[in-house]
Formats: sequence, structure tokens, C-alpha cells
Amino acid sequence: MYDFKTMVDRTGLSSAKTHKKTIKKYFNLDYNEDTISLWVSEMDYVMSPEIKEALTSRISKGILGYTSSDSRYYGSIINWLKSRFDTEIDKNWIVYSHGTVSAIRNVLRIFTKENDRVIIQPPVYGQFKGVITETNRKVANNSLIKTETGYRIDFDSFEDLAKQDDVTMFILCNPHNPVGEVWERDDLIRLLDISKKYGLIVFADEVHAEIVRGLEFTTTAKLKYDNVITALALSKAFNITGLHITHLIIPGESIRERYSKYIGFTSISPLAMEATIASYNEAGNWLDEVNDEISSNFKFMNDFIVERIPRLKFNIPKGTYLAWLDFSDYSIPTQKLMERFASEASLVLESGLMFGKEGKSHARMSIATPRDVLKEVLNRMERFLIDIE
Ligand SMILES: Cc1ncc(COP(=O)(O)O)c(C=O)c1O
Repeated sequence: MYDFKTMVDRTGLSSAKTHKKTIKKYFNLDYNEDTISLWVSEMDYVMSPEIKEALTSRISKGILGYTSSDSRYYGSIINWLKSRFDTEIDKNWIVYSHGTVSAIRNVLRIFTKENDRVIIQPPVYGQFKGVITETNRKVANNSLIKTETGYRIDFDSFEDLAKQDDVTMFILCNPHNPVGEVWERDDLIRLLDISKKYGLIVFADEVHAEIVRGLEFTTTAKLKYDNVITALALSKAFNITGLHITHLIIPGESIRERYSKYIGFTSISPLAMEATIASYNEAGNWLDEVNDEISSNFKFMNDFIVERIPRLKFNIPKGTYLAWLDFSDYSIPTQKLMERFASEASLVLESGLMFGKEGKSHARMSIATPRDVLKEVLNRMERFLIDIE
């Protein structure tokens, strides 16, 4: 039994989640004495004791010099893919990256040219658009279609976009942040076949892969397309986002060589290596328990909303620890609602508009927090929403 009841103490750590200036600067939201911050995709639980012990033990040696990736490291990744995702990979396909967004930036620079268009499926993680525009590429939006129970992919419009000459890349998000859909094997094959047919490079962002409920997760690494780069990370599953530890799985030899040549010689940090080994070899039980805790938080939240805030629309997502809240029954504009939540209810949520215009009237909130905190959040939400038209 691990401890998911204690709120982690971020005092004095300049943690982005509770950083007043960051929150004011990027979202124009107030941060009060009693604010509960729920915007960033990060858990409020301490990391697994296995990872903490591995990192502490490595530091205690007093040397953090240049480090060569060894067989313990590669073995841990290979075994993880085999045991969690029933996926066999070759050691040579693994390419370390300091973070996922930086890997997307590299892929954009290597495999597309300026003014090319890149397909994303909003509402989706805002940094996709961020890196596309920052590298002078353009966004080709294939908006998800909202249904009663969640979202689905518009395959016809996906193909219409994919066949355009200037569309050269697709960024897949699975599980899909912020809506929490988990795309299954048939959908993935359909998307990847179309991408292959029209010569698109695909970046499959699977950083939330380990946080799923009620179904098996299919990693694109299992499907072995030679135009697909799959990104798996320790950040979300093991709550060590700040270490930016991402592993790219690239079965296609030609694109792997182009990627590696672009990156040039590099070596993994000793802490990234130890964290990888400890997470994949030893922290599986912690992850299973965290998944159970998150599922029961979602159930609690759903029951609460159905009973006490019925105008708020919400479905338990299939993946991620992110709740996607639909406030469209309230007439207040999205940003105004976020500002009032922050100043009047002391709750910092992330506006749905950060994920594209499709996120209008929505907000995203991390629910990977102790149950008592979640209760307090929902109570505040209920009290605040009573007065909103
Ligand atoms: C879908 C998705 N991709 C990437 C990231 C960020 O990854 P990294 O910190 O490894 O760049 C996040 C963080 O929230 C995310 O949700």
C-alpha cells in the first residue's frame, strides 16, 4: 500500500503548478492564500519509493559524470514494452530524448520544411500547435467530433487533409490529452495506413500510455510502421515530469538514422538512466495502485457531479488523469469563467481554449490528487456554480 492520501509539499520548489507568477502571466488567473491548483498535468502524490531510493542511492555515490547507456537500461525498456504492452522491440530502435516536445521539434525540423502543414486533432495538447508554429510550419486541424459519451475521429476529413501535397506530418496523441480518449487498434491502423499511403511522417505521442482504465492500450510501436516515431515517457505514469525522460521507439531504419544523425552524439544523464531502470523494473506495483486510485477518484467525481452539479457535463475518460469538464450549459465566456473560478472559488483550472477553439466552454483539471482535496474542489465548484447563470 502506497500513500496517496498526503498532498505533496511543493513549498519553495518553484513548482510550475503552484507558481503564482507563471499562472498570472500565462493564464491571467489570481492565486489566493487557499488556492488549489489543478491546471498542469502532474500528480499531487509523492513519487514511488522505488524511484526515490534509486535516485538517492545514485546521488549518494557523489559522482554524476558522463554515463553510457547499459544493458540494464535497455533491458528495462524492452521488458516494460513486453510486459505492459505485449510489444517486442529491438534494442536498436530505442532513442533517448530529453523530453517529448523537444523530440517533436526535432522531427518537424528533420522531416518537414517551412510552410508545410502538420495534422493535429484538436482539442489537443497545446504545445503541438506551439512547436508547429514556432518552427514556421502550419497547423492542419482535423478536429475531433464530439459525441454524447466522448469524442471520435473524423477519418474522411483526415484523409482529405493527408492527401494534400503540403501536408507532410501527423502528430497523434494517444491517450488523447485533454479529452481522455484512448484510440484502439483498428482506429490506429486506419490513421497509420492513410498516413503511410500519402507519405506522412507520424509522431505518436503516447506519454499518457500507462494511465488507462478498462481496456488494453495498443502502442503504435507494436504496429511497426516504418514512418512512425513512438514516444513513451516516464513523466506522467511515474510523476517525474520535471526530469523530461522520453524514449522514442523508431523501427524504421531510414528515419531512425536521419533522426540520430540530426541529434548527433549525445549521452543519457545518469539520473535519467537510473530513473528509467527503477521505474520500469520496480515501480510497476506503484503504477497499478496509482491507476486504481485515479479510477476511484473519477468514480467519486462522477457520482458527485451527477448528484450535485447536474448542469456540468462530464464523462469518465478512458485514459489520463485529466478531467475534461463541459460548462456549455452556463452562459459565461470560457476565460471569464476561469478567472472567476480562480478569484472567487480559489480553483485554478486550465481553460479549454488552451487546446484549440474546440475547447470553448470546457476546462481541464488534473484529478490525481488526494481524495480529501478532490472533495474540497468539488464542494467549492458546486458552491461557486450555484450563482452562475
Ligand atoms: C500529450 C503530451 N505530450 C507531451 C507533454 C510534455 O512532454 P515533455 O515534458 O516530455 O516535453 C505533455 C505534458 O503535459 C502531454 O500531455
